[in-house]
Amino acid sequence: MSTASRASAAPLPCCCLKVCDVPKVNDVITYTAEGYANSETVGRADGCTVFVPRLIVGEVAQVRIDYVKKNVAYATPVRIIKPSSARISPPCDSFGKCGGCTLAHIAYDEQLVFKQNKVANNLRKVGKLDVNVLPCVPSPRIWGYRNKLSLPVRGKRGAVKAGMFERNSHNVVETTRCPLGGDWAAELTSIFTAYCNDVGVEPYDERDFSGVARHLTARFVDGQLLATVVSNGEFNYDLRPLARALSDRFDRFGLFVNVNTARNNVILGKETRHICGLRYIEGEHLGVKFRLRPDSFFQINDDVKDLVYAKAKELLDTSQTQVLVDCFSGIGILTNVLANERFDSYAIEIEPSAVRDANDLARLNNAPRLTNVCGDVATELPKIVASNLDKRFTIVVDPPRKGLNENICNTLKQAAPNSIVYISCDSATLARDLSMLSDMYDISYVEPYDMFPQTDQVETVVRLVLRR
Ligand SMILES: C[S@@+](CC[C@H](N)C(=O)[O-])C[C@H]1O[C@@H](n2cnc3c(N)ncnc32)[C@H](O)[C@@H]1O
Repeated sequence: MSTASRASAAPLPCCCLKVCDVPKVNDVITYTAEGYANSETVGRADGCTVFVPRLIVGEVAQVRIDYVKKNVAYATPVRIIKPSSARISPPCDSFGKCGGCTLAHIAYDEQLVFKQNKVANNLRKVGKLDVNVLPCVPSPRIWGYRNKLSLPVRGKRGAVKAGMFERNSHNVVETTRCPLGGDWAAELTSIFTAYCNDVGVEPYDERDFSGVARHLTARFVDGQLLATVVSNGEFNYDLRPLARALSDRFDRFGLFVNVNTARNNVILGKETRHICGLRYIEGEHLGVKFRLRPDSFFQINDDVKDLVYAKAKELLDTSQTQVLVDCFSGIGILTNVLANERFDSYAIEIEPSAVRDANDLARLNNAPRLTNVCGDVATELPKIVASNLDKRFTIVVDPPRKGLNENICNTLKQAAPNSIVYISCDSATLARDLSMLSDMYDISYVEPYDMFPQTDQVETVVRLVLRR
């Protein structure tokens, strides 16, 4: 029974009122997508809130109920009755099975509108902030843009598969050619699975934590490949056939083994061993020479990374700066873009391998007056602020998805820089943090960047200006 028809029925006596006549698992119902909750659409049916992936707001579809809890249901599209004009056919056989490209059924222009709205909605709903959000800056490449590969390895000996996890599960969908990666990713994946099957490598089984090969991870930047086999303990198989196969395809590559025996979902363990070839990738982006080791953080979309860094530089007026701090600095390309002989610069990063790369960068670029600090922003930023209290600060923050916290926001307020640039990969935690800073700062610029086309993720660059 639809909500509309139930509303017109004669009222039931109080004793007969049902809380909610919710749909049941396997019911097929007619559903209208009314809004988005991340990449899923949300609508109402039979007094229930229903979440459905792979639809577009405004579409009407028949959907099958997969799961119901109280008056919330999750469903899968069965047949689209009224398709949106923004609907396209995703160029991937695994669409809908793999949990990767949640927006690949939406025309790219509409994906950009989705991301602008996502940021604006989070600022309004989570942060209670009514600020102008600029249109989302597109990615120059909307497919084949990923410089990073990270595939779980599963299956059985002789029939190893490497692929993406299915949506909401730990089953692996074999992905021989993920369109988000380039040809390099597809070729590396098939070289690696062929090697595993030839040599008899035992893939990992997370049900009993047995097996050896857990993940294949890789970076491919400026024609250089670093491939890492993540191993559940010692990797006692002969790696020479893999190295030979890689050298037949890649002119410049390095091979590594990372040991990870942890019984959790973290991909990399603490120890990465170099096996052969390149020890790091070398390049020059935005005039900054860099070295990148396999376990350091690096933005996954080279083109959009450069656009974001260039925007951060443009937004920061450093004419009055005496101390610049780049918090969550990774290998430090942005720090080197911003550093200047007129002021002291500090970069704070927690991962020792990234700080090793950052020290190489400072040396390679003769970075003036730059100190790389290995540690937690929550403890290192207060120290830098306390020892420079009389100086004028400029601060950049680019935290992981969990964002800042109240203490870091309070330290930022204590330093009271004229401007802060906040680069965020999660607009919900961004909104929470901006709300904490908004008693002292005006949010003068908010611009989403499409670092992750075809997915519902969005990067956002924000400038905060100290209120006089
Ligand atoms: C989103 S990345 C940004 C890195 C860099 N700004 C870039 O553009 O490549 C976040 C970085 O923060 C580091 N990180 C995470 N938690 C941290 C913490 N509590 N203190 C310092 N660095 C941290 C991560 O290792 C990672 O390199």
